[in-house]
Amino acid sequence: MPKPILIWPDKVLSTRTRPVTEFGPALDPLLEEMMESLRAAEGIGIAANQIGVPLAIAWVGREDGTFFEIANPVVLEKSEPVSFEEGCLSVPHEWEQTPRFAKVRVRYQDRTGAFQELAAEGRLAHVLQHEIDHLEGTTFVDHLSQLKRGLMRKRMQKLQKDRAAEAAGGHVHTDDCDHD
Ligand code: NI
Repeated sequence: MPKPILIWPDKVLSTRTRPVTEFGPALDPLLEEMMESLRAAEGIGIAANQIGVPLAIAWVGREDGTFFEIANPVVLEKSEPVSFEEGCLSVPHEWEQTPRFAKVRVRYQDRTGAFQELAAEGRLAHVLQHEIDHLEGTTFVDHLSQLKRGLMRKRMQKLQKDRAAEAAGGHVHTDDCDHD
């Protein structure tokens, strides 16, 4: 069973992660767990804190469907602001135009601890910004208006209630339930 992905607003998601200090095989189990949850949810990126591990490491999806890991990432340069329609595994079924930068240059460490630098644009640039945000304790909804965030919070509370009821094996009440 893949580890469940935390649903926003969860305190772990809004807390800055700790830097990764131990590299190499020590990271393999965590990266595998993250990948398992990512694949099960069919996402294009996942941060360790989304499965409850407050470490600065994430998987980032390339446009060709492959993934690479980034640890302790830093944005070195960003270009002009744009907006991009984003969703998040921690905020299921919600998509919103989110302010981002068109291009970013990022420095990070790979799983061996080696420093890498990457200039990205397009979707890859947005996924990088989204995951780096997560590691800093920011979810994409934090970039939205208070009104939108408030509505999302209500929908997430309902989603969690429904999931809890489902897990307990109970009947899930939805608006179109027929009660007698
Ligand atoms: Ni996300």
